[in-house]
Amino acid sequence: MRETHTIENQPTANTAPATTAPATAATAATAGVIATQVVLPGVVEPTGLEITQVAAPTPGQGEVLLAMAATGVSFAEQQMRRGKYYDQPPFPFVPGYDLVGRVVATGQGVDTALTGRRFAALTKTGGWASHVVVAAADLVEVPESVTSADAETLVVNGITAWQMLHRTAEVEAGDTIVVLGANGGVGSALVQLARIAGVRVIGTASPRHHDKLRELDVTPVDYRDPDLYGRLRGLAPNGVQAVFDHVGGEAVVESFRLLAPGGTLVSYGTASTRDAAGSSKAPVLKLFARLAMWNAMPNSRHAHFFNIWAGKRRAAAFRERLRADLGQVFALLAEGRLKPQVAARVPLSRAADAMRLAESGTVAGKVVLVPDEALGDARDAQTGR
Ligand SMILES: NC(=O)c1ccc[n+]([C@@H]2O[C@H](COP(=O)([O-])OP(=O)(O)OC[C@H]3O[C@@H](n4cnc5c(N)ncnc54)[C@H](OP(=O)(O)O)[C@@H]3O)[C@@H](O)[C@H]2O)c1
Repeated sequence: MRETHTIENQPTANTAPATTAPATAATAATAGVIATQVVLPGVVEPTGLEITQVAAPTPGQGEVLLAMAATGVSFAEQQMRRGKYYDQPPFPFVPGYDLVGRVVATGQGVDTALTGRRFAALTKTGGWASHVVVAAADLVEVPESVTSADAETLVVNGITAWQMLHRTAEVEAGDTIVVLGANGGVGSALVQLARIAGVRVIGTASPRHHDKLRELDVTPVDYRDPDLYGRLRGLAPNGVQAVFDHVGGEAVVESFRLLAPGGTLVSYGTASTRDAAGSSKAPVLKLFARLAMWNAMPNSRHAHFFNIWAGKRRAAAFRERLRADLGQVFALLAEGRLKPQVAARVPLSRAADAMRLAESGTVAGKVVLVPDEALGDARDAQTGR
């Protein structure tokens, strides 16, 4: 593992606040503030997303209110709108896996000095709103030199990529790895972090993304090639040290077969079943059974399912890990060594357009949602930074 960068003045679950807000201060700070939320009412097409105006929520004990500066479309929302995310809440709910925002109000027991500072938070749902309440202990500070949209591309994606690479697969310089979906949000973070660690990367993507992947020093392969796995084996005849597979389904067997002795399959999704009929849990449970079987067999290879929420019940350790890992990712971003992949910036009120774009298969990186006022005119969605 690399050296851990720590973030100064970081609020933690165990840090006693120096100054605390009176109970009524949060209520006063949010009085009269109207929040915009995007609501997922049920299984709908992107046009079925509802934009609602509500009173801004008041942060309670240990919480802060963030004014959202950037949130984004993850694959999880694409699954949730189909009712296909493994443990999504019942409809209706506000989606939004993560966000970056400034603290505009603090609840009881929270250091009032956090007000005005900018943080990232992992929420799973709720991020697609102009104002979002989160636990102060879940905040990770964003370096001021980094834009909110750039930071947003690397919250869930950066944590996932970093932890899979360095905590699960434990890659080392000189290793060769295969990354499926290398142009996606997680994929583009993963390939860059791997290159920074001195790892050779073979990445699958649609041909339209191949030039971009070459720029990132990745060897691209078309994932629709009928001989995909033959091509991958040809590029690494002795096998690879790790395969990162978010596709699942039957082809995961082929991913496992790509491993060199001692290699690790990191499975972290079932994208291939996003549009399949039936239970959202069945493909995941089948995958778990398969991975368990491979681990039980004497084949000197390992198979893991990565879950970003694993260990959440041990909250302090979970938060410490998350803060350390996202801190490393943000430090690399601030140093310019990690290039944020902003596919487009779209106003929050046009979440439907953002979702369609993210699902179009044409984008490289992450589609970022920003407050309508950040783009001046909500009719003017911008591509790029
Ligand atoms: N387990 C965890 O804790 C965790 C955490 C975060 C994310 N994830 C998973 O990570 C995956 C990526 O998420 P994301 O937000 O980065 O998504 P994203 O930005 O939408 O990217 C998805 C990528 O997958 C590719 N893809 C889609 N269907 C595919 C298929 N059948 N075969 C091969 N590639 C395919 C896409 O390629 P095209 O653009 O060419 O279509 C794109 O590169 C998702 O499956 C998500 O559930 C898991």
